[in-house]
Amino acid sequence: MIIAPSLLAADFSRFGAEAVRVEKSGAEWLHLDIMDGQFVPNISFGPQVVKVVRPLVSSVLDVHLMCQRPDILIESFVKAGADQLTIHVELGEKVESLIWKIRSFKKKVGLAINPGTSMQEVKPFLSKIDLLLVMTVNPGFGGQPFITETLSKVRQAYYWRKEKGLNYHIQVDGGINFSTAADCAKEGADVFVSGTGLFGQKSLRGAVKKMRKIAKKASEALNDPKSFL
Ligand code: DX5
Ligand code: ZN
Repeated sequence: MIIAPSLLAADFSRFGAEAVRVEKSGAEWLHLDIMDGQFVPNISFGPQVVKVVRPLVSSVLDVHLMCQRPDILIESFVKAGADQLTIHVELGEKVESLIWKIRSFKKKVGLAINPGTSMQEVKPFLSKIDLLLVMTVNPGFGGQPFITETLSKVRQAYYWRKEKGLNYHIQVDGGINFSTAADCAKEGADVFVSGTGLFGQKSLRGAVKKMRKIAKKASEALNDPKSFL
């Protein structure tokens, strides 16, 4: 179980200190939401923020590109120190070449799918990715409520991984708190992105630990053959 606090919910006046706080919390990954004002109706931050936090932490820097033109941004994020880059399947015919581009920089490849997009769209790429990001809200803003209907997508991703003998991570992002993390873990998620759900707690360290424990416990149902009946 991997916990990935999202910097979008951190104090924007001190990105460096917040990134260090995330590392000290015991979270394995730091999730960085990049919004371009076109793919989503919001703008967040760019490669400069990745560059600033890179020397401060050894956490995996997990960059989620909610951008219409990742082709012109990937190299800057790689140079800034990203470990893995996630692009959206909604970019259609550009997806194949974007996956190739990220790979050419020897970085981990993630593919994200929005709540309204069919899982059939990601199917052709499953053997080429390291991570499937099932969006559990419509991307663009932190603090939105979890969309329950996305749970069936997590289960589908889990089935396909098993069926095809693949090993991509199944990441969930949006409205993840202790309760929805458990719901997702029961369906097969193993990476939990959370912004307000974690940063809103008194102790980030305590919250990360609690979320991991809850997710781990909930995932035990997956090994119970009765859970599929
Ligand atoms: C949503 C972003 C998320 C966001 C999650 O557009 O992709 O990563 O930071 O925020 P919370 O956990 O507050 O829903
Ligand atoms: Zn995200």
